[in-house]
This record gives sequence, C-alpha cells and structure tokens, in this order.
Amino acid sequence: MKQFPVIFGGVFATFALSFIGLAMVPQLQIGNLQPFVDEDAGDIYPINAGGQAAQGRKVYIAEGCVACHSQQVRDEQMGADLARGWGDYKFPRRTVARDYIYDQPVLLGSMRTGPDLTNIGSRQSNPMWHYLHLYSPRYVTPGSIMPPFRFLFEKRKITGQRPDDALDLTGVEAPEAGYAIVPKPEAKALVAYLLSLDHSHALKEAGEAEPAAAAQPATSK
Ligand code: HEC
Repeated sequence: MKQFPVIFGGVFATFALSFIGLAMVPQLQIGNLQPFVDEDAGDIYPINAGGQAAQGRKVYIAEGCVACHSQQVRDEQMGADLARGWGDYKFPRRTVARDYIYDQPVLLGSMRTGPDLTNIGSRQSNPMWHYLHLYSPRYVTPGSIMPPFRFLFEKRKITGQRPDDALDLTGVEAPEAGYAIVPKPEAKALVAYLLSLDHSHALKEAGEAEPAAAAQPATSK
C-alpha cells in the first residue's frame, strides 16, 4: 500500500493534464471568439441568420440531413475539399472556428454520402432548384441516391391562380391537371436555411485567400 500515493498521483495527473490540454486550453483559445467587425467598411461576419433560416436548421436536424452531408471545408493539405468546389467561389478557403460561433449545435457531420453543404447557398442560390431537388432529387440530378423528401410538400387543387411557389414539374413528376405541388412551411424554412449557408468572407485565420475561381461543383445546375 506504500505505492498508493504514487498511483493515485499518477492517475490524478493524467486526468488533470488531459482536462487542461483538451478542454481548458481550447476554451481559452477559441471559447470567446467574436464576429469579425470592420467598422469602417460596415462589414460584420458571421451574421446570426435567425428567423426562417433558424427554423429551417431545426428541420435539417430533424430530417437527419447531417447523416449524409458535412459542413466543414478542410485545408488543402488535409483533403481535396477546395478542389471539389466546396469552399466559397469568391474566397475559396477552409472553414475555421469563427464560422461556427452562432451554430448551436454545430452540424459538422462525419459522413459525405452527398456533397459538403458549407457554401451551398452561394453555389446554388435558386430556391426553386432546392424545392425540386428535395421533392425529387433525380428530377434535377439524374442518378441521385439522395432520398426524396416529398412529405415536406403538399398537393393542392388550383382554385383561381396557380400558386407562385408551385413546383415547376413536367413529365412523370407533374401532378394531374388542375393540381399543383407546393412546399409546406417546413420546406420553405429548410430552403431558407440552405440558402443561408454561405461563408463568402475572407478571414485572416483561414489564410488570406485571394478572390479566385474555384473548381465548379459537379452536381450544381
Ligand atoms: C442518404 C443520404 C442523404 C440524405 C439523408 C440527404 N442527402 Fe442531400 N444529397 C445526397 C447525395 C448523394 C447528393 C448528391 C446527388 C444530388 O445532387 O442529388 C445530395 C445532394 C444534396 C444537395 C446538392 C448539393 C450540391 O452541391 O449540389 C443538397 C442541397 C442536399 N443534398 C440537401 C439535403 C438536405 C437538406 C437533406 C435533408 C432534408 C439531405 N440532403 C439529405 C445524399 C443525401
């Protein structure tokens, strides 16, 4: 039992050092990150989207989109993310801690069955494309293995004028005459969220990326 203090001290030190190294130091380094503000240029980044986009974020979580889509762009040395066009077009760069300060919880994701969505709002800014894609991924991306999310839409009888947000469907996907497929509020919020995913802002800590032409993504239309 003479060894007890040594063993106890060793175990305690192991846990204490892990806690300091893995929890406290990162918290001190990046725990209080603030948005980047350039008062002269009136430039603030990131912006807390709120409103409909915040609602859509909940739909994104509830529907499990994070199971197939990541929201993290890795450095050039860590992978081909930038070459795949997942960084932003104007400022192709990796993502850094500051990009996520308003995300609660952060939706980094660990699977990439589908493309990274960090900058989908700047890559594909047409809401109708997103509605059609969610309703029927293969309608816009032939051969897609993304599941359709049809329950986010409803079929409505057209009385009077065709609704503005009715989906532009033709061929086999088109509803019968006199009917239209329209997005439910959940789909509208989800698309508002997808459009808000846009990190087009240079940040010093991510390297002063030059505004340059990034590779075009393969799936965008
Ligand atoms: C089973 C895996 C899977 C799930 C779950 C999934 N996706 Fe996808 N997603 C894919 C695949 C594969 C693609 C690429 C083919 C395509 O464009 O349809 C894709 C493509 C996309 C794209 C186009 C990306 C681009 O760069 O063009 C968007 C936007 C998207 N998904 C959004 C969503 C949203 C929102 C959800 C949740 C409601 C979701 N996905 C759920 C697999 C998935």
